[in-house]
Amino acid sequence: MQAYLGGTEGRLMRSIKSLLGSKLMDEHTVVGGQSVRFFDIVVLFFKELKARCEAHVGHTIDSAMLGRPVHFVDDDAERDALAHATLGRAAREAGFAHIDFQLEPIAAAFDFEQRISRETTALVVDIGGGTSDFTVIRLDPTRRQNTDRARDILATTGVHLGGTDFDRLLDLGHVMPLLGYRHLGPGGRPLPNSVFFDLSTWHLIHHAYSRKSMHFARELWTSYTDLALHARLMQVLQGHHGHRILAGVEAAKIACSISHDSAAVTLEFLDAASAPVITPHSMGEALAQPLAQVVQCALQCVQASGLAAVDVVYLTGGSSALTPLMDALQAALPGAALVQGERFGGVAAGLAYAGALKRS
Ligand SMILES: Nc1ncnc2c1ncn2[C@@H]1O[C@H](COP(=O)(O)OP(=O)(O)OP(=O)(O)O)[C@@H](O)[C@H]1O
Ligand SMILES: [Mg+2]
Repeated sequence: MQAYLGGTEGRLMRSIKSLLGSKLMDEHTVVGGQSVRFFDIVVLFFKELKARCEAHVGHTIDSAMLGRPVHFVDDDAERDALAHATLGRAAREAGFAHIDFQLEPIAAAFDFEQRISRETTALVVDIGGGTSDFTVIRLDPTRRQNTDRARDILATTGVHLGGTDFDRLLDLGHVMPLLGYRHLGPGGRPLPNSVFFDLSTWHLIHHAYSRKSMHFARELWTSYTDLALHARLMQVLQGHHGHRILAGVEAAKIACSISHDSAAVTLEFLDAASAPVITPHSMGEALAQPLAQVVQCALQCVQASGLAAVDVVYLTGGSSALTPLMDALQAALPGAALVQGERFGGVAAGLAYAGALKRS
């Protein structure tokens, strides 16, 4: 990401995992002047990962335990199965001979299980960049050696909401108004939203720079009453600052969530009048709706498990650090102890335990 923002030639691709279940995988795209299949980019990623791991441990690695989200694609079993198969095919093509899968939240639960001494029921909450996954699982240190733990999984639910959605809403709430979003033009008419939606959505930003969108944006000046806002919009589009703004919003979100204090969005490439600040309060407001959906999905999981309550809510995934989310979860499940797990390594550590059991 830093290389891209620093001007390195290339294409920025984020959240490739979300493309796994689509037909796009077999299509070609241009990278560095060459036509490559999206599928081959996934293979390349696996090869690089394999090579780095092998260099680290000093021997070849031919087995892989792949984590997968509960749902790659919502409400479409066929595309979900395709995503699963495509991931496995890419790993095989990269040189892994033995490939197994484990659901990511279950892997996270295995990691937590290493730390408990008696039977515990847990709601594992994994809030990442693109998805929020929930699993109710019965954990028991004495059952650790069983490879088939399917019966201990009482329920799973998931929703396609995560950190990138939070970034979009925070960008729309804090930065895009400086470019005219929600600005009322002559006669009280609001501006069209599309350019602001494109600019605040990671995978759509480049649309905003197309010749057609730029032309449309340039002509938009007649719809502004405050032309300084239009000038700023054009400055952002001409300078291709969309990713930089969204990265600034993400950094401020993380700073605000860690410090529980206000954090400024750094926009040094724009005029001085534009210095938006994300406060704990404004963040809670901007994210209230998606966080309510996330909590709802968590409660559905507990309900589907048939348990009256869980002992522990175990948090993992980068976005699980958000204080308003933790507060909402604790309020929704007042009897459970909130445990903050390893935010980034928990799933991978659990996959390693699952892989070791499989091969032992
Ligand atoms: N302290 C923090 N507070 C809030 N959000 C954070 C924090 N640290 C990281 N994030 C967010 O966490 C997300 C990345 O989390 P994670 O690495 O768990 O996702 P992922 O596993 O790649 O995505 P997914 O599980 O959805 O496929 C990013 O959106 C990032 O902005
Ligand atoms: Mg994840």
